[in-house]
Amino acid sequence: MEWNASWIRPAEDLGDVCPVFFKSFALCKPLAKATLHITALGVYEASLNGNRIGEFILAPGWTSYKKRLQYQEYDVTGLLSDQNTLSVVVGKGWYRGRIPGWTGSKVQQQLSQAPAGLLAELTLSYTDGTTEQLVTDNSWLTDESPVRFSEIYDGETYDATILPGKGTPAVVFNGPYHTLIPQQGEEVREQERLCPARIFHTPKGELVVDFGQEVTGYVEITVNAHTQEEVSLSHAEVLDKEGNFYTENYRSAKAAYRYICRDGLQSYKPHLTFFGFRYIRINAFPGGIENAKPENFTAVAVYSNMHRTGRISCSDPLLNRLFDNILWGQKGNFLDVPTDCPQRDERLGWTGDAQVFCRTACFQYDTERFFTKWLADLAADQTPDGRVGHVIPDVLEAPNGSAAWGDAAVICPWEVYLAYGNPQILKNQFTSMKGWVDYITASTTTPNLWTGGEHYGDWLGLDAPSGSYKGSSREDFIASAFYAHSTELVIKAGKVLGEDVAAYESLYQNILSAFRETYPKYTTQTECVLAAHFRLAPNPQAAADQLAARVEQCGVRLETGFVGTPYLLHVLSNYGHTDLAYSLLLRKEYPSWLYPVTKGATTIWEHWDGIMENGDFWSSDMNSFNHYAYGSVADWVFGEAAGIHTVEDFPGYEKIRIAPKPDSRLDFLNVELETRRGMLRSCWKKENGFWKYEIETPSPAVIVIDGQEQAVEKGSYLFFSQI
Ligand code: BGC
Repeated sequence: MEWNASWIRPAEDLGDVCPVFFKSFALCKPLAKATLHITALGVYEASLNGNRIGEFILAPGWTSYKKRLQYQEYDVTGLLSDQNTLSVVVGKGWYRGRIPGWTGSKVQQQLSQAPAGLLAELTLSYTDGTTEQLVTDNSWLTDESPVRFSEIYDGETYDATILPGKGTPAVVFNGPYHTLIPQQGEEVREQERLCPARIFHTPKGELVVDFGQEVTGYVEITVNAHTQEEVSLSHAEVLDKEGNFYTENYRSAKAAYRYICRDGLQSYKPHLTFFGFRYIRINAFPGGIENAKPENFTAVAVYSNMHRTGRISCSDPLLNRLFDNILWGQKGNFLDVPTDCPQRDERLGWTGDAQVFCRTACFQYDTERFFTKWLADLAADQTPDGRVGHVIPDVLEAPNGSAAWGDAAVICPWEVYLAYGNPQILKNQFTSMKGWVDYITASTTTPNLWTGGEHYGDWLGLDAPSGSYKGSSREDFIASAFYAHSTELVIKAGKVLGEDVAAYESLYQNILSAFRETYPKYTTQTECVLAAHFRLAPNPQAAADQLAARVEQCGVRLETGFVGTPYLLHVLSNYGHTDLAYSLLLRKEYPSWLYPVTKGATTIWEHWDGIMENGDFWSSDMNSFNHYAYGSVADWVFGEAAGIHTVEDFPGYEKIRIAPKPDSRLDFLNVELETRRGMLRSCWKKENGFWKYEIETPSPAVIVIDGQEQAVEKGSYLFFSQI
């Protein structure tokens, strides 16, 4: 759109205090419609006559701001009256925050020097057919708002005793227009409200509220207070082994919330920031800490407004808790950008994590719009030679791309395409997808393999040499395996789009030969997984058998990290070791998916032993309790245990293959997926000594029970097999 508005800022830098911009105006004719277009350098909250405009929390959202800044459009007709005041508070948000918190970022240093800018245009259409525009310019006023401090990692301070002032004129400045784009992603909204599960004193004597569930969002407080009394809260994910409030793993993120009260009954929630937490510690409360009661606090979960599509339940309560934890992992980390974690001084769009979790994400929610925006940022941040950032938005700008991280450029569009069947995502991303493969081709030190790069390896693999975060799978092996995988997906995507992919086809053949020649042996679980799953092994069955033997040799124990874990169970069950796949899934001892559940986890942990058997923490600096990556096991439950697959040539479940794989350690499994074509259900349960399968398919399907294939039309079906 063509903007008539000017960027405005406060005349003086207000430091930590968030400015409020406002403009009063009268309506002199009957109104037909009023539309507001608005964005900010920071995060904004706009209101008309005291009523919040829209539901978008942390608007305009987080994009690669140097290239793309979203603006929003709101219909505000219903909020106008004869006399009006439009006011907008602008917080630092991601634009002007200290992101990431643990290291200097050149990109962010530049961005954060920008003023708290606002750009807005209110178009008033009258019933007589005329229109008028009210745009940000130097007739607007600005003032200090009651938000005295607000920042993504450090939290928020609000002083309710501050009354609106008269304001001083805003100043026009040269803000960005060339980067403006209409809202592309899902809006971030308040989605769920949770009451405290309990309020208690820790052994240290601190008063702590437990919401019973780790969430991302903020706490709404409701208090009866005298002016200048204060509510002060700290946030935490877990208690330590003594049962005390524990915040060390937030690293430098202060995650603090202060509210200075006015007289009377009042409610507040700090919505220009967010926290990842299950517990809050009450540091100050009107009339003294002991006055705090559960009814004073409500946790508000805030995440991107995606439609829930997938559901899993089974006969094992621990597994059901695991499935809930995976779901909460997505809720807590799909806040406009797919993040590694929502609490410490990080909260970044780590590409590796997103790639690993993408298929699960597409089962649990409709994420097409969410990923469309993030992948557009990925492409925007990609360097001309095709390098993909470790994080998107790329606030790190590392000189290298890492295997299995940068591959998000190829894997995520492909997964989104398979899930929803819309080739648009491939059209949008095809140049970026090819760019990543071309980057590898140009930067490797050995043709047809990817050698000599700098990578994260099999991040957090349990076979890591002591003191290292990287598992002992060879980095060049992993890099070359993903080189092959991404090239193969580029070929598939190109064919969907009718592109000429001959060069990639011969590249793929060359990679395959070079890989087989260079890596005839697999030395770790993850190497076996990749060789079999990407069909790089001349005999994938042998690689899978070797994997099974390795898993068994070490006591039915996984040793895989970020790279191997997502495909581990797939390889086992695809090559005749379903029993072993279930053994890993159902294992309760460390390391396993259920171990954290036995320790009371309500989200997925970064480390299998974030809290160790003896109650100690894995570490204090790299120990997130809401890291969705290992939650990718849900895609095995949907795709293998319940057995639902879109046929690749008929994506979006236009044609389906349903091949459930029951295990007698479970009595039943129910999986449902709301596809774009209708409800897909795959349920199995024990009944009178048989497996009973209830299957509902929205499209033609091939159903595979006990190796027997049957083609069916859309409809509901019942099958039985021997246990
Ligand atoms: C993040 C990870 C990420 C990794 C890169 C960590 O700090 O939390 O999830 O992928 O760095 O290896």
